[in-house]
Amino acid sequence: MSVSQSAVELINHLDRDYLRQALEHDVRTGLTSTPKWLPPKWFYDAAGSDLFSQITRLPEYYPTRRELAILRERAADIAARSGADTLVELGSGTSEKTVLLLDALTAAGTLRTYTPVDVDSVTLGDAARRLTARYPGLAVRAVCADFERHLALLPRTGRRMVAFLGGTIGNLDPVAREVFLKELRTTLRPGDSFLLGADLVKDTGRLVAAYDDADGVTAAFNRNVLHVINRELGSTFEPDAFEHVALYDVQHDWIEMRLRATRAMNVRIADLGLSVSFAAGEEMRTEISAKFRPEGLRKELAAVGFTVSRHYTDPTGDFSLVLAGA
Ligand code: SAH
Ligand code: TRP
Repeated sequence: MSVSQSAVELINHLDRDYLRQALEHDVRTGLTSTPKWLPPKWFYDAAGSDLFSQITRLPEYYPTRRELAILRERAADIAARSGADTLVELGSGTSEKTVLLLDALTAAGTLRTYTPVDVDSVTLGDAARRLTARYPGLAVRAVCADFERHLALLPRTGRRMVAFLGGTIGNLDPVAREVFLKELRTTLRPGDSFLLGADLVKDTGRLVAAYDDADGVTAAFNRNVLHVINRELGSTFEPDAFEHVALYDVQHDWIEMRLRATRAMNVRIADLGLSVSFAAGEEMRTEISAKFRPEGLRKELAAVGFTVSRHYTDPTGDFSLVLAGA
C-alpha cells in the first residue's frame, strides 16, 4: 500500500565549486574597482540570515511588519486570484510571512507544492523542515540556488505563483533588476502569477533609521560580509575597523549601505593572491535597497510583459504588494 506522505526535498544548485568561483569573482571585481564595492548575496551565511531575522523584529525596520499586515488582509484575495497549485518563493529566508500565503492557498484548496529558493542552505533547510511538519500533504521542494542565475531551473509544471517578498527586489541595481524581471517573465506561462513585495519612497529619516538601527544589529549584519570573506577566502579584514554607513540617495531613490574604513589599512586576501589598501575614511558600497513609487513599479513590470492586476498597500502607504499576471 502506498501512503502519500509529505517529505522535505532539498535540491542544491550551489555546489562548493560554484559558490567558490562566484565569491572569488565578485570579491576580486568589487575590491579592485574604484570605488570598491561588495555584492549583497554574500551577507547571507547562517550568521547573516540570523542577523537579518533580528533586523525584521527591530522597531525601526518597518517593512516586515507592513508586508505582514498586507498579507493578513489580502492573502485570501491573492490566493483566489492566483489559483496557484505551486508556490515558488525567491529569497525565502525563514519563510515566516509565507505561512499566510500557504494558509490561504490551502484554504482555497489549490495548493500542492511549495518551492522556497534561497542562497543560504541552512536557513532554507530549517524552513523546509518546519513547513513540512506544519503542512502535512504539502510537497516542500526547497531549492538552494541564486535567483539571478538559476530561474530556468525552477519548477516548470503546474499553475505557479512566484513570490518575491521583503523588498529584496530593491537590492538589485536597476540593470540587474531589469534582467531579473525579464528572465522571470520568460519562465512564466499564461495563468501563472508574480507577487512582488516592494518598499515605497517615504520620509528620509524613517528610511535611514530602518537601515541604521539604534542597537547596531544592521551594522553587525553589514560587517558580517567581511567575516564571510575572511572565512571563505582567507582574508585579513578586521570587521571592527569598519564603520556602518547608511544613507539615502534621493537621486536614485535608494538606501545605500557602506562600510567605512576607520583608518588606513592593507588587507590581504590570501586565496585571491590579492592585497587591497584602504585610505582612512574610504567607503565601500555593500548594498543598495531601492525604494519605489507605485506607478514606477507598474511601468517596470509592464516593460517586461507583466500585467499588474492588483496593487495592495498597507494603511500607512509604507509598503506595497503587487500581483501581476504573466
Ligand atoms: N523573504 C524574506 C527574506 C528577505 S532577506 C523576508 O521577506 O523577510 C533576502 C533573502 O534573499 C535572504 O534569505 C537571502 O539569503 C536571499 N538571497 C539574497 N540574494 C539571493 C540570490 N541571489 N539568490 C537567492 N537568494 C538570495
Ligand atoms: N531586502 C532587505 C531590504 O532591503 C534586506 C536588508 C534589510 C538589508 N536590512 C538590511 C540589507 C541591511 C543590507 C543591510 O530591506
